[in-house]
Parts: sequence; structure tokens; C-alpha cells
Amino acid sequence: MASVTLEHVKKVYDNNYEESVHDFDLEIKDKEFIVLIGPSGCGKSTTLRMIAGLETVSDGIIKIGDRIVNDLEPKERDVAMVFQNYALYPNITVYDNLAYPLKMRKMGNNEIHKRVTRVADILGISAALGRIPKELSGGEKQRVAIGRVIVREPAVFLMDEPLCNLDVTLRNRMRIELMELHKRIDTTFIYVTHDQTEAMTLGDRIVVMNDGNIMQVGTPQEVFDTPHNLFTAGFLGYPKMNFLRANLINDEGSYTVSLQGIKIQLSDEQCLALIDNNVKTQEIILGIRPEHVTALFEEQENSIECLIRLNEMMGSELHLHLTAKNSENIIVRLPTIDLTKEQRAQLSYGNKVHITFHPNALHLFDPTTEKNLIYGNEEK
Ligand SMILES: Nc1ncnc2c1ncn2[C@@H]1O[C@H](COP(=O)(O)OP(=O)(O)OP(=O)(O)O)[C@@H](O)[C@H]1O
Ligand SMILES: [Mg+2]
Repeated sequence: MASVTLEHVKKVYDNNYEESVHDFDLEIKDKEFIVLIGPSGCGKSTTLRMIAGLETVSDGIIKIGDRIVNDLEPKERDVAMVFQNYALYPNITVYDNLAYPLKMRKMGNNEIHKRVTRVADILGISAALGRIPKELSGGEKQRVAIGRVIVREPAVFLMDEPLCNLDVTLRNRMRIELMELHKRIDTTFIYVTHDQTEAMTLGDRIVVMNDGNIMQVGTPQEVFDTPHNLFTAGFLGYPKMNFLRANLINDEGSYTVSLQGIKIQLSDEQCLALIDNNVKTQEIILGIRPEHVTALFEEQENSIECLIRLNEMMGSELHLHLTAKNSENIIVRLPTIDLTKEQRAQLSYGNKVHITFHPNALHLFDPTTEKNLIYGNEEK
């Protein structure tokens, strides 16, 4: 069994006063594909390297299966890691590159041959086995690097941004291959990236990190739909979620959001959750994703008038950059297919447009704690 458990794991590097990882507490299930995502410097690689045994753990416990591995050497842990900057041996063939880790373990030639050909088959590089690395494309090299890890048949795969050196097309292809690979070899994967698409598509669950802390853990859909805090809300999604100053008004258990002269009645479900969390009338930061803002071509009751600052044409959609009367900026994402020619012309710089929000698409955050007032009290 290859579950991986981190209990209150901390990391302080000797030459660094600041803690790089604060209190990492997570149980990764056997065969799960877990993605660690977060901005540069948030502690993703450090966490992965501690699991691999390449960095010491300053405090807390790491278990692989039922074994505490804190004091075990990397090679005793039954894990294998693909690095950001992988290196192949340049002067030997792909076959020998794949066979090398097995020879080091003094495995018999027959078994080596069986494993190498199987892995080459899984990764679609059988035809390249006789070539040396400089005779391969970038994607093929990457597959050999991954192959070198797979041949060892470890209980846990650790991958630190393995696709970051590839161009977009290759990255997309390798991403799909990794999904298929996980299905085929059915092993625990812990994968580090700062790429949202990779995190959303690959992860059974994703762990959003910031500044050495776990901000939220959940399935990609959960984390996207119900961000528990301002950081997670702003980190996932492009363009970023809009954040607007607003007031939440509690009128005997019926809640409305008031902003820029309009009022939005919240749904029964939202009101019940707010009552449950004992939320009173207060200032809030209102979060709304650009794709959830409705643009109107005429004023309506409860719509906000905005000035168009910029219209970014992205092909199948438009990104409208708006400024409201209180000078707050709002971005709206509109599918172009729904727009007439006249409407498109109307959506140009300097013109006015009205916007409304659907209550179900609103996220309510406390400005001080930065927690979601509806979900923020739940566990990470
Ligand atoms: N060997 C080291 N010695 C001292 N501090 C380090 C060391 N390695 C990393 N750090 C610090 O620890 C923090 C976390 O670094 P880490 O490499 O884990 O971030 P990351 O999330 O992987 O970032 P990136 O996306 O840029 O790879 C950073 O502040 C970094 O400066
Ligand atoms: Mg890193």
C-alpha cells in the first residue's frame, strides 16, 4: 500500500530564518493523483523533496504506507522522482538510459529487458530505443526521463514540474499522456505545478499552497466552485475572480448584498449557511468570476453602469475591462458566439455597458480573515 501521510510537517532551511513549510498536514490515499499548486516560492518543491528524502524534515512525521520514513534514505523509501530539469545520459541509447537504474540494482538481464520494453511500449518510445538522446525530440526526451522513473516500479511517483520545459503543444500532449499513464500503472502520484490547467485536469485532488501554508484541499471542481478563502479564489481561474467592496445586510435571517447602489437578494441556501455561521451585517469583499457577470445593453433594475476601458478579443470570447462609477475595475468574459455585430460594435472603448450578477455565482469574503463566509469555517 502506498498512501503518503504528512503530519504537521515543517521545514526550516539552515541558512534561512523563515520557515519554508509551516504545518503541512495531509493524507494522500493509495493510487491517488495529488497536485500541489501555488505561486513561486510557496514550498511545493520543498514538500516534495522532503517526501523523496532529499531534504530533512524539521518537524512532524512523514509516512509512506504504515512506515515512518523521516530517517530513511531516499533509496529506502520506494519513491521515484522526475525533476524540473531532467538529465539523460547523453552518450548511451534510450534503451540503456532506461536500463541504467535497474542495472544499478543488479537486476538480471532478462527482467531488465522485460521492464524496459514494457515501459517503452507504455510511453510510445519503442521505436526510439536504439537512438541516443540528441536524436530525440523534446517530448521524446521527456518521456524517456519519465520512463527511467517508471521502470523502477516505485510505490509513489513524485514529479516536480516535469512539463515546464516543453512548448505548449507538447505540454498539452504530455498532460494527456500522464493522465493515461496514471490509469495504466495505477500508482500514487504527487505532482507539483504552477500551471492551473495541469492541476485542474490531472488532480484527483489539488492542494493549493501559499507562503508555506495549505490554503485548501479538494477535488478541482470543489476548489474552483467553493474557494474557502480569498487566496484560493484569486489563484484559480483566468481572468482572475473580480473582488469588489460591498456590504452584507442581515435582516432577520434574510441576507442581501449591497454594492454600488444596487441590492442582491441571496438564495435560501446561502442565507441558511450564513445563519449557521452566525454572520451579522458587515462589510465584505464580494467575489465574482468574470464568466459569471452578465453584460446588458440597456439599463435594468439592479444593474451597475460601467465604462468600457478595454475590449480584449480572444477569439471565441471577449474580455471586457470595465470601470464602475466608484472607480472599481471589473472584468467580464463573454462568449462571442452570443453577440450580434451591432452588440460587438457597442462593446468598444469609451462606451457604457450595464452589468448584473447572479446570486448563486457570488462569493462572500470577510475582509479581515479573508475567509469565505459560507464555506470558510469548514476544514481545509
Ligand atoms: N536550499 C535552500 N536553502 C534555503 N532556502 C531555500 C532552499 N530551497 C528553497 N528555499 C526557500 O524555501 C521557500 C520555498 O521554496 P520552494 O523551492 O519549495 O518553492 P516552490 O513552491 O517550489 O517554488 P517554484 O514554483 O519557484 O519552484 C522559498 O522561500 C525558497 O527561497
Ligand atoms: Mg519548485
